Amino acid sequence: MVYSSRSLLGCALLLVNVNVLPSLGAGLSRLEVWSQLAVLNATVGGRLHEAVPWELPCFSEYNGTSVTPDEAACAAIQANYTSPFERAKHFGAYMMPQWATCQVNRPAGECLLNVTNPEDPAAYTGVDCGIGDIPSYYIDVRYTTDVQAAIVFSKATGVRLSVKNKGHDYKGRSSGKNTLSLWVANLNSISHSESFTPLGCNTQYDALTIGPGANTEDIFEYVDRINRTFIGGYHQTIGAGGGYFIGGGHSVLSPVYGLAADRVLQVKIVTPEGLYLIANECQNSDLFFALRGGGGSAFGVVIESTHRLEPRVTLQVASITFEGYSNSSNLAEWYGLLVNETYRWGTEGWGGHITGPALIYVNPLLSNAEANASMQAAAEFAIAQGGTAVVEEMPSYLAFFTKYVPTAEAGVGTEITLGTRLISASLFATEEGRATLSETIANVLSFASPYVVVGTPFLYNYTAGATSFTPAWYDSLWHLSVHGDWVWNSAAEYIADQYEVVTQHIQAFRDITPDSGAYFNEGDVYEPNHTDAYWGSNYAKLLSVKQKYDPDGILDCWQCVGWKGPSDPLYECYIPLSQS
Ligand SMILES: Cc1cc2nc3c(=O)[nH]c(=O)nc-3n(C[C@H](O)[C@H](O)[C@H](O)COP(=O)(O)OP(=O)(O)OC[C@H]3O[C@@H](n4cnc5c(N)ncnc54)[C@H](O)[C@@H]3O)c2cc1C
Ligand SMILES: *[C@@H]1O[C@H](CO)[C@@H](O)[C@H](O)[C@H]1NC(C)=O
Ligand SMILES: *[C@@H]1O[C@H](CO)[C@@H](O)[C@H](O)[C@H]1NC(C)=O
Ligand SMILES: *[C@@H]1O[C@H](CO)[C@@H](O)[C@H](O)[C@H]1NC(C)=O
Ligand SMILES: *[C@@H]1O[C@H](CO)[C@@H](O)[C@H](O)[C@H]1NC(C)=O
Ligand SMILES: *[C@@H]1O[C@H](CO)[C@@H](O)[C@H](O)[C@H]1NC(C)=O
Ligand SMILES: *[C@@H]1O[C@H](CO)[C@@H](O)[C@H](O)[C@H]1NC(C)=O
Ligand SMILES: *[C@@H]1O[C@H](CO)[C@@H](O)[C@H](O)[C@H]1NC(C)=O
Ligand SMILES: *[C@@H]1O[C@H](CO)[C@@H](O)[C@H](O)[C@H]1NC(C)=O
Ligand SMILES: *[C@@H]1O[C@H](CO)[C@@H](O)[C@H](O)[C@H]1NC(C)=O
Ligand SMILES: *[C@@H]1O[C@H](CO)[C@@H](O)[C@H](O)[C@H]1NC(C)=O
Repeated sequence: MVYSSRSLLGCALLLVNVNVLPSLGAGLSRLEVWSQLAVLNATVGGRLHEAVPWELPCFSEYNGTSVTPDEAACAAIQANYTSPFERAKHFGAYMMPQWATCQVNRPAGECLLNVTNPEDPAAYTGVDCGIGDIPSYYIDVRYTTDVQAAIVFSKATGVRLSVKNKGHDYKGRSSGKNTLSLWVANLNSISHSESFTPLGCNTQYDALTIGPGANTEDIFEYVDRINRTFIGGYHQTIGAGGGYFIGGGHSVLSPVYGLAADRVLQVKIVTPEGLYLIANECQNSDLFFALRGGGGSAFGVVIESTHRLEPRVTLQVASITFEGYSNSSNLAEWYGLLVNETYRWGTEGWGGHITGPALIYVNPLLSNAEANASMQAAAEFAIAQGGTAVVEEMPSYLAFFTKYVPTAEAGVGTEITLGTRLISASLFATEEGRATLSETIANVLSFASPYVVVGTPFLYNYTAGATSFTPAWYDSLWHLSVHGDWVWNSAAEYIADQYEVVTQHIQAFRDITPDSGAYFNEGDVYEPNHTDAYWGSNYAKLLSVKQKYDPDGILDCWQCVGWKGPSDPLYECYIPLSQS
């Protein structure tokens, strides 16, 4: 796919002052890059676009130049500032807004609104909006050839590539200053086959084939209409067929049915070398292994993936909540009770989320009476604190999701960072382990109430060696997190402190789980020893697969397999901290 850039040059030159175009950080002159961009744009059918921050219509200055605000567009953004649907729709928006900014330069150069009050004029009056860590250009990808053309362009110009789907990444891996981004969110098809056969295999599955941008909530609605269950995330707008499953992908049903990476059957992908390959158990199986937990865009750009379905299931749902205070003992006692109950709950098939003094759990294995008895101690505790407890049966996963998840899912639009750890089942199994864990939690309560996802494949009958996420997932019962946050006008020093304090507080949990790891998609931005935490004994094999399919390191991302490290120019917006 070598092309010449000469032919398009002459005619368009007159129209464009190339000095005002965003830079792409490569060695070529702006004029050369610009002319190659024009060719690329023609190759991808005009779907190459210059990126701008989502909030730009609110500002009267952009990159040091006066611009005219668009009041109507700004009002729509303000009204929807915490809507994940709106953020997913716009290339220049991210769920965690710091990944649209160049954090190392903060407070300068950001282009954010005040999330507590998006109409607060202080955030956009007399403030110079900047492109931050948003890629300079993106291709709205519709065909495999779009990705191949971008790879040819990257090799010819030295312009680096990045991959963005719906922008939920907690570690900035779908951002990338000066890069050309492949935006896959509009590859969002969904189709069903009762007898799907991975190419070259002779097995058959009831399966769903999706584009990376297929929305989790849309998938739940689709499979409900065909009387099936899809094992997906606890959020409406995650793209189920991209970074979600490549990094692992937990669900409240994962304790029984496995992680998304356990359940994927086949992946169609453009590799960093530009080859369009089909990976499954029967061909390119090394690449398939890497795509089952290897994480991010390190192994190529996924165009389509196929996932096993389950029949419709009846679920027991437990929702228990009370007012908890970290200044009194009731919160520490509550976590102590949960720690005491967790091993039994794990063997019974419960999954769910704990958000301080509240839990929402689901169970596909128990009857309503069994579920009620199983949750009795927790329900009594909450009621004694003046709280409420419900254990009810739901006819389908969609019924559960619709009633409970949109009001309980993690919020977006706030700048937050996570520190997380997979908490080993062995700790819950002994009195000594439970006491240690309860004490560690009690000690962290003055900083934050841990958010716990009960979503490890604890009962799942997995095939050893098939997946590449850390095997610690199979031996854990909790994925526990604490978080830090900051605001639109925070300075880099303050933001750095938040990252550090989160790292320090989660360290106590690393210390009591020395053989465990963490979740690639929801890890500490500055995870120490990240290869061990995310992949454990699978890392050596992953690295050899990376070297085979991406020998020139075309696709690099923060703390991904084969990462070039924080000093690579791709990461110039990350605040340098000692841990990384
Ligand atoms: C509010 C919220 C709730 C969440 N809930 C859950 C949950 O319940 N369960 C869970 O497991 N995780 C959850 N996550 C984490 C989420 O699964 C990951 O962040 C996931 O990668 C997001 O996918 P995305 O497509 O929106 O992200 P993006 O930020 O667009 O991309 C994430 C990463 O995947 C790469 N990528 C995306 N698409 C492709 C592709 N087609 N080919 C190659 N690489 C690709 C990107 O380059 C990037 O490295 C949640 C995140 C948020 C913000
Ligand atoms: C912003 O301005 C600088 C200096 O004029 C220029 O180098 C850069 O490419 C511009 N960036 C964008 C996104 O327009
Ligand atoms: C690419 O071409 C389309 C259609 O001609 C045009 O609208 C768009 O602005 C071009 N993109 C760039 C970055 O010039
Ligand atoms: C917010 O977004 C929704 C679509 O998600 C849109 O219908 C609505 O008009 C937006 N609100 C405003 C005030 O523009
Ligand atoms: C954001 O708005 C809230 C509510 O109006 C206000 O209390 C807060 O001070 C503002 N934050 C900043 C950083 O200006
Ligand atoms: C839906 O699936 C369930 C579980 O397999 C089955 O019992 C039920 O009969 C199905 N309903 C319809 C309408 O097909
Ligand atoms: C703890 O804080 C809550 C709300 O902040 C307050 O109502 C309560 O009185 C405090 N309790 C104690 C024991 O200090
Ligand atoms: C948890 O169990 C231990 C004994 O194993 C007990 O001492 C402790 O009180 C229990 N905690 C709660 C909150 O029930
Ligand atoms: C459990 O069942 C008992 C008896 O039917 C009922 O009183 C109680 O409310 C139920 N508990 C929950 C949490 O639903
Ligand atoms: C687990 O899987 C293995 C291999 O596929 C199978 O032999 C075994 O019966 C399964 N066990 C259960 C409990 O499903
Ligand atoms: C990383 O983890 C491995 C395995 O636990 C350990 O052997 C190694 O010493 C750790 N490295 C660092 C730098 O902590």
